[in-house]
Amino acid sequence: MCGIFGCALLNGDNSGEVLYNSLKRLEYRGYDSAGQATIDAGKMIVAKGVGKIDEVNSSQGLSRMRGKIGIGHTRWATHGAPSKENAHPHLDCSGRIAVVHNGIIENFMELRNALQERGHVFRSRTDSEVIPHLIEDFMRRGKGFVEAVRLAAENLRGSFASAAICLDEPDKIVCIRMESPLILGIGTIGNFCSSDIPALLPYTNKVIPLEDGDLAIVDARGIKILDWRTGSALEREVLEVSWSPEVAMKSGFAHFMLKEIHEQPMAIRNVLRGQRIYYELAASMLKRASKIFLVACGTSYHACLFGSYAMANLAGLTAHPVIASEFEAQCKNLIDGKTSVLAISQSGETADTLNAVRAAKARGASIIGITNTMGSSLTRLSDVYIGQNSGPEVGVAATKTFTAQVVVLLKLAMELARSEGRRNGAVDSLAEELSGLPSKMEAVIRASEERVKGIALKYSAKGSFCFLARGVNVPTALEGRLKLLELSYLPALAYPAGESKHGFIAVVEEGYPVIFLAPRDSTRDRILGNMMEMKARGASIIALIEEGDEELKQLADDFVEMPPCANELLYPAIYVIPLQLFAYYVSTLKGYDPDMPRNLAKSVTVV
Ligand code: M6R
Repeated sequence: MCGIFGCALLNGDNSGEVLYNSLKRLEYRGYDSAGQATIDAGKMIVAKGVGKIDEVNSSQGLSRMRGKIGIGHTRWATHGAPSKENAHPHLDCSGRIAVVHNGIIENFMELRNALQERGHVFRSRTDSEVIPHLIEDFMRRGKGFVEAVRLAAENLRGSFASAAICLDEPDKIVCIRMESPLILGIGTIGNFCSSDIPALLPYTNKVIPLEDGDLAIVDARGIKILDWRTGSALEREVLEVSWSPEVAMKSGFAHFMLKEIHEQPMAIRNVLRGQRIYYELAASMLKRASKIFLVACGTSYHACLFGSYAMANLAGLTAHPVIASEFEAQCKNLIDGKTSVLAISQSGETADTLNAVRAAKARGASIIGITNTMGSSLTRLSDVYIGQNSGPEVGVAATKTFTAQVVVLLKLAMELARSEGRRNGAVDSLAEELSGLPSKMEAVIRASEERVKGIALKYSAKGSFCFLARGVNVPTALEGRLKLLELSYLPALAYPAGESKHGFIAVVEEGYPVIFLAPRDSTRDRILGNMMEMKARGASIIALIEEGDEELKQLADDFVEMPPCANELLYPAIYVIPLQLFAYYVSTLKGYDPDMPRNLAKSVTVV
């Protein structure tokens, strides 16, 4: 997730200052590098660099750039490490076209190879750089700037919000959109484009959110919108935004956490677009290993637990999940040159995880990292790493980064299964079902949020909760517990349901709330038995059940209906959503701030 801003000014030539101030408002979308391009006196001026916007401004003078028109970008690296070359804007060969992009171009390799064969010279390792070269390629074949952008859009596969400027038509910005947000702003000092509303608000509250397939021509006097698939003109409604700047930062949600819960379908679409080559590299390393450890802390450790189920079930591999801070004590004598450590860390900076990785590396293990933060310490320590592409997560509680980790691990397990020639039919049908996961997540959020809010209201005064599940749903139960615990400061519990009668059941008394994860899978009948045991002791049963499971509906005091999945390994990514929402609403009902729970930090860099 990156931030884009563009301006076409009527009178002043201070576009550098407008872009810089706006990029600062978009910095929460990414901040590993930044850059701007303006057109001044018939010349393309480009300044970019690594670091936060203020650092890049100090070294490159972003705010002093002149010109009536310009585009800017703040980056969250996906393809290519954070570096000056990989920072946006990117230029074509001639330096006459500048482009900023947010999203992932899936077919960039094939486009890049074809463009290189036609003589184009690339300067970065990004997927985005294909866009200016594609535009240039069409312009070399006699097309005008706008038509060349339209044809470029037709050739791109994946997600993109992109803005381009060109010396040949120096009064306009041409924007295209597919699946990544892009919003136009109609102001009195000029017109704008931005990846988010907050950056537009200092200039205007009149906005037009572009839709998939839109191409917009923005100049200082007006805006024209076309469908880039057909070339026909479009009318789009102008909306008046009444959000305060604070609410606008959260896209209208009350908290970042809620925004990030709602962003999960998009985050998973990005994971599904991740390049296969990284999975192939990681899989070939894991296949050669005689021992595999999955190492992480907190939520990322729950993803590890899921990963060990997925690898065992799909690829027949044993991968031992270990809490990072225990890794040395537990495993140091087991590590040798044939060991692979798969370390998972959203931030890539968690000290316990990095320590475990360093200890394993020192004993000759190979390291595979899964992280949301390109350029982090984990990426530097890893032999191979996979980016989870979730975009920055502001809420301290991990939400979208958990589901992204789960899907990365599922893809990796599928890659391992394929490379071992195992269960190809099953893996193919899982792949097909996985492609529908983002829509299923959208449906779950839509269908469950109000119901979960009601359940939170009914039970929020309870002093403790327990989450029970079986099989691959156990990591989800543990994650539901962690969310509730860290946001509501309640001593919540979670167990594999079968284990509950070996101790926990002593706690149960009249009205004690037990939350069951009960999809109609291979664990369902045993879960039913556990529900009866709890019910017999007076527990209040809250159950996540499959649509139409009448028997469980009768048994539960409260239930949330969930859509079915053909493959059990898809349950965690959807069943965790009502649990995240439950923790969020209990926390807000208690008057706490779910974005900043007490005593916690987003990245724990001490051991
Ligand atoms: O950045 P990491 O994934 O390494 O962070 C690990 C934990 O600190 C983190 O998941 C923590 O448990 C979250 N606050 C959970 O919501």
